[in-house]
Amino acid sequence: MSAVSLLGEIADVGRDRVRGGYSRHLFDPAERELREWFTEQARRRGLDVETDRNGNLWAWLGEPGPNAFVTGSHLDSVPGGGAFDGPLGVVSALDAVTALEKPNRPVAVIAFAEEEGGRFGVPCLGSQLLTGAIDPARALALRDPDGVTFAEVTAQAGLEPGRDDEALGRIGTFLELHVEQGRGLVDLGSPLAVGSTVIAHGRWRFTFTGQGNHAGATRITDRHDPMLPAAAVVAAARRLASKVEGARATVGRLVPKPGGTNVIASTVDLWLDARVPSDDRVRPLVDEIAEAASRAAAEEGCEVKISEESYSRTATFDTGLREQLRDLLGGAPELPTGAGHDAAILAAHVPAGMLYVRNPTGVSHAPEEFAEDDDVERGARALADVLRHLST
Ligand code: GLV
Ligand code: MN
Ligand code: MN
Ligand code: MN
Repeated sequence: MSAVSLLGEIADVGRDRVRGGYSRHLFDPAERELREWFTEQARRRGLDVETDRNGNLWAWLGEPGPNAFVTGSHLDSVPGGGAFDGPLGVVSALDAVTALEKPNRPVAVIAFAEEEGGRFGVPCLGSQLLTGAIDPARALALRDPDGVTFAEVTAQAGLEPGRDDEALGRIGTFLELHVEQGRGLVDLGSPLAVGSTVIAHGRWRFTFTGQGNHAGATRITDRHDPMLPAAAVVAAARRLASKVEGARATVGRLVPKPGGTNVIASTVDLWLDARVPSDDRVRPLVDEIAEAASRAAAEEGCEVKISEESYSRTATFDTGLREQLRDLLGGAPELPTGAGHDAAILAAHVPAGMLYVRNPTGVSHAPEEFAEDDDVERGARALADVLRHLST
């Protein structure tokens, strides 16, 4: 079954009628359905499926062992995400493995857990736990928007999150195929590219506290409205990021509480996503935005607390693997990206690389994310070629 038809099989799973697109979050009904679907598809291909201590799914061709060629991506999504971010790499990996004959090293398809941080807020949680990039105690204390902890959810699933040296030690090469998330390949006029770097990025939570009050009865001069400094952060993020070469800063999530039209909020939580191509520019940019937040909070008589929820340094994919990929793909271009990936987390530990498939809309993390069928099949064929060359 082709990558296109595999994607078609899951086209209705987790469709979000409110936001549009897909919402598939760790262990929600849609994500569970995808786990079962993945397991079934893997079994049909003669692969043995295991779930590691962090909830990542591994489908092994033959015996699990060292120096394995591991390929895959993730099945979860952002809220209201596209059909390709994650699943494209998983279905392409399943397709590629199906065509493989007599590999000379172990081969596995992987689906990482909670790549988007859509439920617990920290991206690449499955790969960060696996590699020890996040302290398990910190991960276990994370809460979803309903207040349920990662500790509760993983205990219920029979998982014991933590660094997994045995699983990590088996990976000899990791390759993730992914839909391109910007206009890089459209501009290059190429269907495929080899990943070069993932820029440094992180997430920061700002909590503003003011005085909840009546929207009609409270004089403007008497207000301590936390929405004012929150709005200042939104504007400062754009203004300050536009002064730093290649920087991006975004507030995509902002929660005023209690959340009534005729109620001045008592608190506002907002999350800042900041990314800069140079490691030593990210935190200074966030510091400047934080200063703007403190000034605006003081002006309105509000308090602000800021905490770093995640941070990943610039990741550079393995140069030897990149060269092999470019050769095998007939001189495909290389592309840096501002999007985070599990491959970038793994790159600090094992030879890791990425292949990108052209996205004609240039839109991602939104329903308009797209890849033409021909390009999907090109990507899957390229992955199969690479897999054959590097494992037979
Ligand atoms: C993951 O998709 C990210 O870069 O946010
Ligand atoms: Mn994504
Ligand atoms: Mn992704
Ligand atoms: Mn009233």
